[in-house]
Amino acid sequence: MELLGGPQRLRYLLGLLLLQLLLAVCLFSYLRVANESPSRFPPPAPGTISPNASSRRPLVILLWTWPFNHPVKLIRCSDLRPSADDCKFTANRSEYQRADAVIVHHRDVSAQPRKQLPQSPRPAGQRWVWFSLESPSHCRNMQALDGYFNLTMSYRSDSDIFTPYGWLEPWPDAPAVVEQVNLSAKTELVAWAVSNWRPKSARVKYYQELRDHLSVHVFGIGHQSLPRASMMETLSRYKFYLAFENSQHPDYITEKVWNNALLAGAVPVVLGPSRSNYERFLPADAFIHVDDFASPKELAQHLQALDRDPARYLSYFRWRETMRPGIGSWALDFCKACWHLQQESRYQVVPSIAAWFT
Ligand SMILES: *[C@@H]1O[C@H](CO)[C@@H](O)[C@H](O)[C@H]1NC(C)=O
Ligand SMILES: *[C@@H]1O[C@H](CO)[C@@H](O)[C@H](O)[C@H]1NC(C)=O
Ligand SMILES: *[C@@H]1O[C@H](CO)[C@@H](O)[C@H](O)[C@H]1NC(C)=O
Ligand SMILES: *[C@@H]1O[C@H](CO)[C@@H](O)[C@H](O)[C@H]1NC(C)=O
Repeated sequence: MELLGGPQRLRYLLGLLLLQLLLAVCLFSYLRVANESPSRFPPPAPGTISPNASSRRPLVILLWTWPFNHPVKLIRCSDLRPSADDCKFTANRSEYQRADAVIVHHRDVSAQPRKQLPQSPRPAGQRWVWFSLESPSHCRNMQALDGYFNLTMSYRSDSDIFTPYGWLEPWPDAPAVVEQVNLSAKTELVAWAVSNWRPKSARVKYYQELRDHLSVHVFGIGHQSLPRASMMETLSRYKFYLAFENSQHPDYITEKVWNNALLAGAVPVVLGPSRSNYERFLPADAFIHVDDFASPKELAQHLQALDRDPARYLSYFRWRETMRPGIGSWALDFCKACWHLQQESRYQVVPSIAAWFT
């Protein structure tokens, strides 16, 4: 610097002055914005892109695999929610580069996640969605997924995209309960359909004690067959259905409750997460929890008492005066992803699926 001559030195000083002036102006306007923002215009979350539905092309969502490698009949999401744009779903991996999001169904990549996930570099802004409706007990190799995913999609209500097996929805002009349930057609007492018989599981142990006190009709492999076509009709003849989950995890409440029991019109007897967890999704008097009883024997006595007391049995249907069960589907789950990805374009990373999905 000392080597600079007269005119050069002057230009240097002028430059420095100008720079300082610029910095001062910037700082001043920054302070102004910072002062005004809390009340007038809260700043957008970092990284949000203001959506302009009419000008965007539809989001392209790549299904990395079909769930369990079975193609799903998709629906047009705008048929369900006309206010939102449709997405373009594809299962063609050649579309990877132009996909805005990739949905990865855990089971289909769980054998060797690092080899089975997309291998090409991730295009800028592309989001990866981790998807599972299986419980953590049936999700292998989750640790291998640390740091790959941006969003979660599962039955857990704290997922970014919540895809429950079922729910209750308001039913404005519900028929009277006596019209909804035909007690004289309920000629059988307790049914249980089990596809995965593990002798040491909590549910098999519970059943083995229960059957000493009560007759339970068991359906499934190695038991009575239950063809899908007549399943609902068969189960509707029962007063109770054992909705025993294969493993116990928060929010893991499956089609056993929503479809096999509630939709079929049988009262669910549940074994799964705690009663208070079920009550986040169902009225307290819509189900019977095994934890309500000191032993399987006492549960058996309760079911027999209800069998003899129609009015008391029907009290488990009271919620149906205003609500009815809704049942999830793969196609609906994908639409939920479509809607979420449109509304929410925040930058985010799931540091560890394994630490969260327990
Ligand atoms: C959104 O896009 C439409 C069509 O390109 C344009 O007319 C409109 O001005 C845009 N709105 C905003 C808020 O950018
Ligand atoms: C998959 O996408 C590529 C690239 O867009 C296209 O050339 C190809 O025909 C598609 N394959 C199928 C089976 O649709
Ligand atoms: C109720 O079930 C009984 C026995 O299956 C049947 O005879 C009767 O028609 C049913 N009633 C109605 C209203 O469906
Ligand atoms: C998605 O996650 C990846 C891996 O952690 C990260 O590099 C990328 O920036 C994230 N993208 C978005 C849009 O959040």
